[in-house]
Amino acid sequence: MKNILMSVAVIYGLLGTTSLTADEFSNKNLKHWKSEYQFVVKEGRKVFTNPRLGSNTVTCNECHPNAANTHPETYPKFQKQLGKVVTISEMINWCIANPLEGKKMRLSDPRMTALIAYITEERRGVNLSPGKH
Ligand code: HEC
Repeated sequence: MKNILMSVAVIYGLLGTTSLTADEFSNKNLKHWKSEYQFVVKEGRKVFTNPRLGSNTVTCNECHPNAANTHPETYPKFQKQLGKVVTISEMINWCIANPLEGKKMRLSDPRMTALIAYITEERRGVNLSPGKH
C-alpha cells in the first residue's frame, strides 16, 4: 500500500514538473506580451477620448483628464451610485449610461478591457487599497 502511494506521489510529481516546464516563457514571449499590453492601453486612451462612445459627444476625459479621479486601485468597493460593492467595470458602465448617456457595455467588450487597461496604467505604482474611499 505504502509503495503504491509512493508511486502515485512520484507520478504526480513528474506531471507537476511537466506542467511547470510548459509554463516557461522566453524573452521573445515577454516582448510580445508587453507590446500587446501597450497596444491595448493605447486603444483605451482612444476610447476614453472618443466623443462617439456615448450619445451626447461628452468624453470620459472631460471629467477625468488623463484618468484623474478614477481610482482603479480602490476597487472592488461599495459605490453609493450603485448601492453595492462593485468592480471598476460596473462603475465605468455607470458613467457610460449617465454622463455619456450611452449604452452599457458587456463586461467582456474589448473596449471595456481597453478602458480599464488605460485607467490602471495611468495609476501604475499606486498601492492597492480595495474598499477605500
Ligand atoms: C460629466 C462628468 C463625467 C464624465 C463625462 C465621466 N465621468 Fe466618471 N465619474 C463622474 C462622477 C461624478 C463620478 C462619481 C464620483 C465618485 O463616486 O466619487 C465618476 C466616477 C468614475 C469612476 C470611479 C471613481 C472612484 O473614485 O471610484 C470611474 C472609474 C469613472 N468615473 C470612469 C469614467 C469613464 C471610463 C468615463 C467615460 C466612459 C467617465 N467616467 C465619464 C463624472 C464623469
